[in-house]
Amino acid sequence: MNIIILGPPGAGKGTQSKLISQQLSMLHISTGDMLRQAIAQQSAIGQIAEQYINEGNLIPDDVMVKLLLDKINQHNNQSVIIDGFPRNLHQAEVLAESEFVVDLVIELYSEDEDIIERLSGRRVHLASGRTYHSKFKPPLVDGIDDLTGEALVQRDDDNIRVISQRLKLYHSMIRPIRDFYQNSPVTYKRLQASGSVASVQQCFVEMLQAN
Ligand code: AP5
Repeated sequence: MNIIILGPPGAGKGTQSKLISQQLSMLHISTGDMLRQAIAQQSAIGQIAEQYINEGNLIPDDVMVKLLLDKINQHNNQSVIIDGFPRNLHQAEVLAESEFVVDLVIELYSEDEDIIERLSGRRVHLASGRTYHSKFKPPLVDGIDDLTGEALVQRDDDNIRVISQRLKLYHSMIRPIRDFYQNSPVTYKRLQASGSVASVQQCFVEMLQAN
């Protein structure tokens, strides 16, 4: 089964995708993590992406479509959970025209105030993509990754100016994407993301089992 998880910044897409992919032995593809790795490696894509991300804007579609389809094609026998794509109607259309079959789309939704609290307190281990939260999911030692002992950082795009831009963009993009999938054979479900991590995960698994 191939799943797409949609939702505003900070809704918990990455958190839930990591848990579900581990639980069900699926491949987790996070376009945000791929871009951050590209920036860390200072690759050509990383050099394109950095300014867009730091301003809260979308990387051009041609770059993102190639990045995603190349990654999918490297793992064409494994069930996939995609987090971070599509981000607009054009990306959804291109994915639908590809050979990749989407079975289920789950849209997380949450209030903007909850998003801001989640993103403001988020700390990340950039090399692995592991995510913490100062209040909701603190590391064992403040500021330190539990597994590697390396420093945690705040993402450059997790400041209130850029969060506002990311939210504005998301709200303008989600309706056409939702309409697209709801008018297609793909199953589309919405999931309230404001509960605890464990309760959202439980609902997520129940949705998968019902599909
Ligand atoms: P991306 O990394 O995908 O950012 P995003 O969509 O803004 O989502 P986030 O990673 O901020 O949040 P999340 O929903 O994964 O939340 P998380 O689980 O971490 O993309 C970054 C940028 O890359 C984009 O802005 C864009 O520039 C570019 N980009 C990416 N894909 C693109 C594409 N397809 N096209 C063009 N550009 C693209 O959780 C957040 C925090 O809350 C964490 O601290 C976590 O511990 C905590 N938390 C999670 N769940 C709960 C819970 N239930 N209760 C309490 N706390 C929780």
